[in-house]
Amino acid sequence: MCGIVGYIGAQQAPPILLEGLGRLEHRGYDSAGLVVRADGRGPRALRVAKRAGRVRDLAAALPKRFAGTAGIGHTRWATHGPANDVNAHPHTDADQRVAVVHNGIIDNAAALRERLAADGVELVSDTDTEVVAHLVGRSQADTLEGKVSEALSVIDGTWGLAVLHADFPDRIVVARNGSPLIVGVGDKEMYVASDLAALVRHTTTVAMLDDGELATVTAGGFTTLRHDLTATAKAATPVDVDPDSYEAGVHASYMHKEMLEQPAAAERMLRGRLDERFGATHLGGLNMEPREFRAIRRVKILGCGSAYYVGQMGAGLIEDLARVPADAEAASEFRYRNPIIEPDTLYVAVSQSGETIDTLLAVQEIRRKGGRVIGLVNVVGSAIARECDGGIYLHAGPEVAVASTKALTNMFLGFALLAVQLGRVRDLSIADGTRLVTAMAALPGLVGQVLAKEEQYAAVARTLAEAPSLFFIGRVRGFPVAREGAQKFKEISYRHAEAYQTSELKHGPLALIDPALPTVAVVPADDLTERNVGALHEIAARRGPLVVVTHEDVDLGGVEAVRLDVPRSEPELDPILMTLPLQLLAYHAALHLGHDIDKPRNLAKSVTVE
Ligand code: AGP
Repeated sequence: MCGIVGYIGAQQAPPILLEGLGRLEHRGYDSAGLVVRADGRGPRALRVAKRAGRVRDLAAALPKRFAGTAGIGHTRWATHGPANDVNAHPHTDADQRVAVVHNGIIDNAAALRERLAADGVELVSDTDTEVVAHLVGRSQADTLEGKVSEALSVIDGTWGLAVLHADFPDRIVVARNGSPLIVGVGDKEMYVASDLAALVRHTTTVAMLDDGELATVTAGGFTTLRHDLTATAKAATPVDVDPDSYEAGVHASYMHKEMLEQPAAAERMLRGRLDERFGATHLGGLNMEPREFRAIRRVKILGCGSAYYVGQMGAGLIEDLARVPADAEAASEFRYRNPIIEPDTLYVAVSQSGETIDTLLAVQEIRRKGGRVIGLVNVVGSAIARECDGGIYLHAGPEVAVASTKALTNMFLGFALLAVQLGRVRDLSIADGTRLVTAMAALPGLVGQVLAKEEQYAAVARTLAEAPSLFFIGRVRGFPVAREGAQKFKEISYRHAEAYQTSELKHGPLALIDPALPTVAVVPADDLTERNVGALHEIAARRGPLVVVTHEDVDLGGVEAVRLDVPRSEPELDPILMTLPLQLLAYHAALHLGHDIDKPRNLAKSVTVE
């Protein structure tokens, strides 16, 4: 969603800010802007440039002599008011002496706007953020930290924000509450950003603010404070990240790069975690003893979007291997139904970014009620990772494309590891444990084999892209695969794609089958194959075009269909291998349709507002 960058030092800020904003484009946005502190303390000390559209449009429109050695920039994903030049950040106070960029949502913005208007303040935008600029501008506190803290004391909601003030030219003040904010340490220069991606080309020594923290950032360093202005004395630490992993390199898009990285990412995920001798797994990050695993009577998985669908795959794995009741639920709905939190339930939060607000709030609700939550999270040190009692990091490496691929594969592997762990303290035999562990070890190679058939998928995708609407169907293990397939397809191709349980077709959706509506069917070789093939016949009888993701030895009974065969693994691991062709179908359909694959319209990489 929205992105923040800031710089203070001896260099010119605008090129650094524009480059940083460019690196945040993948998060999803519809306008961009920056403000710099120009030399001098006159009324023109702050210079703002902002506009609807892309960062490159902003760069092209920057006025001449737009210069300054301190500045903050923003990419906005519209929440309050349309995406236009006025609503773009930064927002300023009436005197243009305060400029604010903000990620998150101010829940009591309407009331604050009314109060400011009653005091004679003219609000020029539709945004919630503008109130922060006015509140800071009107504060009588002596310091910028005091002004920001005073403003924040009347605000309800979430924020990652950065403030520049003409009267305090040596600093940027930043604050975090529910929306990430990182301070980056350079050599006599400092950076701020909402995402590591914007910093890694400059520095990998960073401090991540906690909720409720503020920081003063000057060219010489930073100090962290609580909202009551007492020091928290946070230190910066190096993060282990390769800046090149944030580059698309030779690939036409990040999504393509990230799909092809899946064998290596899967290998990283499994490294050191498979115990072939005992047919077991090592998951030290869970901080749980075998007897605590044994005490678990239920597993509840929470995630959003694709993380929710892979959570459904995970629930299936856990029920199959550990025989513990398990289910997945959309984290976005969870806390609104006053959920019953059981002491012997293991809650699992699954998130690539670790910042998805719906998932984070679900975790907080569970912990508030005394439940135990573990995280399957990719981004180390992210909010969800920090909030959980323990976890399994995904080690997928940075995932930039909005459409999640390699993180998703590693989420599945995380569930497989957990399922074996839970199973082996119960009734999963050493033979079955070994069967699974051996299959997992071989999985990265099989992932590579599926991806190697990209050309075949591309040809099929071009045909599917011509259809205005598609069905994705599957049963039991295949159903979350179908859901994820439909999700990817609609996300980046903008074609209507709907997932159904194959068994549900006859209860309604079959009415829509005709030659214009292709169906992508997930048909593994398992005890449901015959029934699945029966459904394919019913679709073919109505002249519905069929693409079938299946195994080589599955006999489709002469039904006319395009087959996409994936290699056999152990049946429990089929879902992930069957998901891969669907990623590539979505990718090549979107490519064929000429879409911006890494920045699909209306979507954001990290959904940090409710
Ligand atoms: C995946 O392709 C989507 N972009 C989206 O559904 C995503 O999985 C969801 O928003 C959850 O994100 P998270 O994994 O970062 O929590």
